[in-house]
Amino acid sequence: MTRVRVKILLALFLLLFTIFPFGPTVLNSKERPTLTKGKKIYSWYCTPCHGFKGDGKGFNAEYLNPKPANHTNAKEMSKRTDEKLYEHHSRGR
Ligand code: HEC
Repeated sequence: MTRVRVKILLALFLLLFTIFPFGPTVLNSKERPTLTKGKKIYSWYCTPCHGFKGDGKGFNAEYLNPKPANHTNAKEMSKRTDEKLYEHHSRGR
């Protein structure tokens, strides 16, 4: 296959993934949040680091420093204010 054909194929794949996003879409402002939607979004976007149980043992965890938070530790997690959690989710800090 020529290089040009490979580039055209790559461009087509990129276009397809742009039009039909792979993971669950994040809620828009008019949608009501539900536990089912939250679980879907968490499973897709958060489990690689935080693990399927939310215990911070996702498959990427071994490569990270600091380690992903353990969301099952209610005592530790409840120390964060809603504002702090929002900052973390939306800005990564
Ligand atoms: C690329 C890996 C990665 C992904 C993906 C990820 N996180 Fe994290 N998360 C981390 C790491 C690492 C920390 C610890 C950061 C620290 O201690 O400063 C963390 C910390 C947190 C914390 C604790 C914040 C705090 O104030 O201590 C929350 C809550 C959190 N993540 C939620 C999520 C949610 C919800 C998602 C999915 C939408 C997600 N994370 C996706 C790596 C990740």
